[in-house]
Amino acid sequence: MTKHKLLLVSLIVAVAFVASATVSMAAPIVIKFSHVVAENTPKGQMANKFKQLVDERLAGKVVVEVFPNSQLFGDNKVLVAMLLGDVQMAAPSLSKFKKYTKSLQVYDLPFLFKDMNAVEKFQQGPLGQKLLMATKSKGLIGLGYLHNGLKQLSASSPLRVPADAAHKKFRIMSSDVLAAQFEAVDALPIKKPFSEVFTLLQTKAIDGQENTWSNIYSKKFYEVQPYITESNHGLLDYLVITSTEFWTGLPDGIRTELKKALDEAIIFGNKVAAEKAIDDRQKIIDSKRSEVIELTPAQRQLWVDAMKPVWKQFSKEIGQEYIDAAIKANN
Ligand code: SIN
Repeated sequence: MTKHKLLLVSLIVAVAFVASATVSMAAPIVIKFSHVVAENTPKGQMANKFKQLVDERLAGKVVVEVFPNSQLFGDNKVLVAMLLGDVQMAAPSLSKFKKYTKSLQVYDLPFLFKDMNAVEKFQQGPLGQKLLMATKSKGLIGLGYLHNGLKQLSASSPLRVPADAAHKKFRIMSSDVLAAQFEAVDALPIKKPFSEVFTLLQTKAIDGQENTWSNIYSKKFYEVQPYITESNHGLLDYLVITSTEFWTGLPDGIRTELKKALDEAIIFGNKVAAEKAIDDRQKIIDSKRSEVIELTPAQRQLWVDAMKPVWKQFSKEIGQEYIDAAIKANN
């Protein structure tokens, strides 16, 4: 080999070495997963499981950083932050998408789903699946639903019939349907972020709130609310969401692996949700800090009668076909 050729070959080898070193040293894709609840909740557990699976399967390629308890973004900011690329995944309550789509409001209608099996059936059906893409035109796509459970009413005084709620202030998520639901019983709904609820209850700035057993337990609302009515009147469910730009910009193989890990994490989170709906309720009863009020069928019917007109009020905005499909899922 001539001196010239030797030089050329060495140069090619050196370039190839630098190129391969650059590829193997490429910075991993970072997924910031922001949420507002505690880690010992269905959503907290699901996010941590997702991180664990990604760590195992995509080590060096993708890093998931989970930020619980509104540490990174609260309810009102996370979707805007996602569109700006400051956070890549979140799982806000379905009640927090009002600015992005009206159809998801179907999930807020009071007394619509009789249990979590009906929710699951609706979500796996064609209209439930269509709703995953309800925010697509706004640059956000739903990757899956995650359950928390049915909501209960907590308050500073016992709530047995709708008249007990009249003129009381209830914190709600940022949903017009939830506002109408409380107005239907002459109560005063106040939209506030989740991170403020405990202090609002503790300082008696508000009289009550609605939430699931796991949120009432993990955020200690039961310590500052002497009564919880087991109303199961509404749903708290989540949409695991990402930005279209981020998701479609991922290499195909990585996107497929991430979706697989997420689906598995959601199955795990839903199992946690079902367990916590029973266990956290019992822990609250055992604490004796709060009295759990069970409604008689006649008392419950009064709440249904008072709140159900909200369905009609929002049927046009939501789309009657979604409401009909949800009703059908109860059978
Ligand atoms: C959540 O579970 O993500 C929060 C629910 C709420 O704002 O009440």
